[in-house]
Formats: sequence, C-alpha cells, structure tokens
Amino acid sequence: MIGLGIESSCDETSVGIVKDGTEILSLKIFTQIDLHKPFRGVVPEIASRSHLEKINLVLSESMEEAGIGFEDLDYVAVTRSPGLTGSLMIGAQLARCIHAVFRTPIVPVCHLQSHFAALQLEGVQPIFPTLGLLLSGGNSAIYRIPEFGRMETVGDTMDDALGEAFDKVAGLLGLPYPGGPAIEEEASKYVPEEGEKDLLPPLLRNLEQDRVAFSFSGVKTAVAHLIAKRPELPVPKVCYHFQNTAFELVERNLKRAVAVTGCRRIIAAGGVLANSTLKKRLRKFAEKNYLELFAPDKKILCTDNGAMVATLGYYLFQKGYSTGLEFTVSPVRQETYV
Ligand code: KG4
Repeated sequence: MIGLGIESSCDETSVGIVKDGTEILSLKIFTQIDLHKPFRGVVPEIASRSHLEKINLVLSESMEEAGIGFEDLDYVAVTRSPGLTGSLMIGAQLARCIHAVFRTPIVPVCHLQSHFAALQLEGVQPIFPTLGLLLSGGNSAIYRIPEFGRMETVGDTMDDALGEAFDKVAGLLGLPYPGGPAIEEEASKYVPEEGEKDLLPPLLRNLEQDRVAFSFSGVKTAVAHLIAKRPELPVPKVCYHFQNTAFELVERNLKRAVAVTGCRRIIAAGGVLANSTLKKRLRKFAEKNYLELFAPDKKILCTDNGAMVATLGYYLFQKGYSTGLEFTVSPVRQETYV
C-alpha cells in the first residue's frame, strides 16, 4: 500500500511517500528556519506564506523521487492538528486537491501522534500501550497511547516547551537560532569537575509527588539571572548546566509517569530528541529503571516530516479511518480524527 503524507503544521513544508507504513520511498522537507531566524521564533504569517510558495514544489520533487504517479496512491495523509491554522490549511488544501482530482481517500492525522509513528520507519513496531514522551519546539508532554489514533495526556507543560526554552536561552547567550543544536554544541565543550554542584535551581521542586508536569519558563529566567550576576561564566559551562537542569525534569517526569500509569514502555520523539546528550541520558535512565525506551536514530525523523504522517495514516487507513473533502484543521489537538 502506498501513502503520501503532507506536513505543514509549523515551519517545515514536507511531503513523504511511504510503502506499507514502514518503507520511505521519498521524503522532501523545506525548512523555513532561515526565514524565521531574524525573529528568533516562528512568525505565523511568514510560515503560511512560505508553505503556500513551496508546497507544490516539495510535492512534485517527492513524487519524482518515488517514481510514482497520483493514481498509484492508496491514501493521502495530512496533518490536521495541532499547529498554526493558516499553515495547516495549506497542507489540507493540497490533500483536498488530490482527492478532488483522483478520488484518493484522505486520512487527517494528529501531528503529535505522527511523531510517535516515526519509529516505524526505523523498523521498530510499537507494542501498545506505551508512553509517549514528546519534546519539541511547541510541545513538552507525556501521553499514554493505547493504540495509534488514541492518546491520553499524562502530563503537559504549564508554560514553555523544552525546544522553546533552548531557543530562548540561546538568545540570552548570543547563540544562533534555533537554539537546540547551538546549545548542545557549546555544552559538549564543557567538562564538569568531579562532584560539581548545579549552577541552576531544580525545576518545579514543589510539585506534588504523583503529578507529571513540565515548566521551562523558569529555567530561562534563572539563566538570565545567572549570567547577569556572573558574566564571567563561560558559555559552554552555562549551556552544560542548562541542559542538566532541564533534562533532570524530563527524567523525573518519566519516572512519575511510569509509576502513575504502570506502563514500562516509552517512545520518545520530537525535535529535541536530536540532542544526543538527552538521548544518551534517557537510554541510561531506561536501563537503570528496567524500562524499554525507543527513540528515532535519524535526526530527519525527529524533526517534522511528511513520512511520519504517511506512516500514521497507514495505520488509521487500515482501521477504516478516511474522509473526503469534509474535514477541518485545528490549532489544538483534537480527540477525533476528522
Ligand atoms: O519538532 P520540531 O522540529 O518542530 C517544532 O516543534 O517546531 O522541534 C524544533 C525544536 C526547536 O526548538 C529546536 O531548538 C529544538 O527542537 N532542537 C533541539 C536540537 N535540535 C533541535 N533541542 C535540543 N538539542 C538539539 N540538538
């Protein structure tokens, strides 16, 4: 079965073509990072204009690379929520056009779930129920996933997402946007002393023992205070401590989520999972706590991409979920699939 996946929820325009939900026939991504760089964050109007400009090109390149025609497609999957409304609409209109001309069934999918489906493309079949840890530019949350198509929130962020914190802290330190890769590189230059004390206070230290929640706006303020008070601190040292403090909260929440749900399997996904320090740390944490942890190895599968949309679409389509023109997009996560 051949499926096409369209992703346009934020700042990547992407089309992927996937066979049987597991094999990538083609994947094209246009990233808007350079367009948003001057503003150090995603500007919604710039994002939707750019999707509109690039989406046909990305589609034709992807079709050409896969060497298929529209009549070969069994379904078209498209991100319908959550995301920037204007941007989501561009992807949705493309799916509608393909449907209008070729009668290809449309499978509208949840962006967050598609991140968890990305693992299929590395040959990992998820066993349900599983926990899903999502750390990206717009989300920091843990879900319990009973099956593809359903997701229960175990804990969410109260303010900023982790990727957003990386981007903002990078701004404070004069590092380029997006902040994640820049901070990771700086942090890797720093070798801590034996038993070195944390420079930043632990996050959410007064949270109830059984509660799962993220909050990353405090760490940004703490870094701002730290560098104002101690401007002599080398940037790599500050980056190292920022990562340490932020990742400690991720581990603490995972431990609680396992205790609350009894689920010992975790899929980790989202742009921040491109961070190899985090991935190493999570693998160690899982080993120590006898948990099964899966995270994509390829960076391209951590970031927003059309292949993961096609993969999730494959499972939903097989379950009988598909629609014609009559679906809507939504900026917030929808419990239903259309
Ligand atoms: O999932 P994603 O590609 O899309 C959005 O949510 O928009 O995530 C992008 C986020 C950015 O905030 C970026 O700074 C962060 O992921 N990121 C990283 C790394 N690479 C990208 N964060 C930490 N370490 C990295 N190596």
